[in-house]
Amino acid sequence: MDKIIVEGGRPLTGEVNISGAKNAALPILVSSLLTDGLCTFSNVPNLKDIESIKLLLSHLGAKIETDGDVVKIDAGNIFNHEAPYDLVRKMRASILVLGPLVARLKKARVSLPGGCAIGARPINLHLKALACLGASIELKHGYVEAYAKQLKGAKIYLDIATVTGTENIMMAAVLAKGSTVIHNAAREPEIVALADVLNKMGADIRGAGTSEITIMGVSSLSPVSVSIIPDRIETGTFMVAAALTGGDVKISGCRPDHLEAVIHKLSLTGASIKIDGKNIRVKGKDNIASVDVKTLAYPGFPTDMQAQFMVLMSVARGLSLIFETVFENRFIHVGELKRMGADITIAGTAAMIKGVKMLSGAPVMASDLRASASLILAGLVAHGTTEINRVYHLDRGYESLEKKFARLGAAIKRI
Ligand code: EPU
Repeated sequence: MDKIIVEGGRPLTGEVNISGAKNAALPILVSSLLTDGLCTFSNVPNLKDIESIKLLLSHLGAKIETDGDVVKIDAGNIFNHEAPYDLVRKMRASILVLGPLVARLKKARVSLPGGCAIGARPINLHLKALACLGASIELKHGYVEAYAKQLKGAKIYLDIATVTGTENIMMAAVLAKGSTVIHNAAREPEIVALADVLNKMGADIRGAGTSEITIMGVSSLSPVSVSIIPDRIETGTFMVAAALTGGDVKISGCRPDHLEAVIHKLSLTGASIKIDGKNIRVKGKDNIASVDVKTLAYPGFPTDMQAQFMVLMSVARGLSLIFETVFENRFIHVGELKRMGADITIAGTAAMIKGVKMLSGAPVMASDLRASASLILAGLVAHGTTEINRVYHLDRGYESLEKKFARLGAAIKRI
């Protein structure tokens, strides 16, 4: 099994280019199920999760060709309505096929994803919304079975502004009869990106990016050619890395407007941040100031940046508090960071971090995607060698992360 070895203590300098966003690419590739022609997606990141979704789409009968960052999908002849356990358990986002399958094939049988390392992550709101649209839903033998001769537009109120839930509903409602209004919809940039793609296919979606989305159903959608937006979490990870190592990094090809909360918090730590169009330049300072953070749905501070920010606070001056309000179990990296010398106390959904002068390299174990990134960041600033095990989590969501860090001057390698 692969490991990543990092020798800490080198400031990162240079330029890094940001890849396409995993969490935008996943629903957008799935949206091809709603058309019966050839869709072309460019700037698709080369990730394990993208491989998993392509595997699932081919299982459903789609024809897929990949050439570099371009993925062509023809879902003209999909014949299978089942997403089996083996494919769904590898990646929860597989649940995204539920809405489009019911809309296109009138039925779907999708394995229930189950819990994961960061929380229970139920899909009750996806199912409730689909039922509102007129689908009959049964849970049998670990599978969701959904059926609807014709979905009908409805008013849907989401108790929690779920991201993939909002995406699933949009992809079901585009082919429903009549209009659907989603109240308390998620507002993440990935929702806007999906709505843009669906509208390009001929859908009529308004209000994406706000908490009220209106979808007027249409009878059919046409194939499109689109490019995936840059990954805001990869961008944020490099911003923190530059600040943490006292480096000077130009992060290019990103969307600074998608990162306002991260930019704000990072600038309060003392890092210098300059925005120029699609580029962000981050220069770190010797003295990192402590800053409190609370994770929230967009436009709040992203939960997917919490672990990385915690590493920065681990070596800041003084005390900081981090509140995790999105997932109930997203402090799994804390135990490993403590093994590297961080001084962190957890009380329920809060973590109190007392900055230390120096972290020390150690063998550590990655437990989920963003936790893995945080351990690499810790390794970059630690004294000595850090060995990160179980890096397959990292490969699910970061494209060539260690190569990008190496190009910025980090002593990092995969063995
Ligand atoms: N929730 C429910 N019921 C539901 C759906 C969600 O209770 O039916 C709860 C969840 O348990 C959680 C909260 O609502 O406590 C928010 O979860 P959400 O549904 O918004 O998360 P998600 O759609 O499963 C996406 C990203 C995650 C990211 C979260 C939050 C994708 C493929 N995944 O997950 O990304 O952390 O939104 O922003 O878009 C990652 O990339 O590392 C990652 C975990």
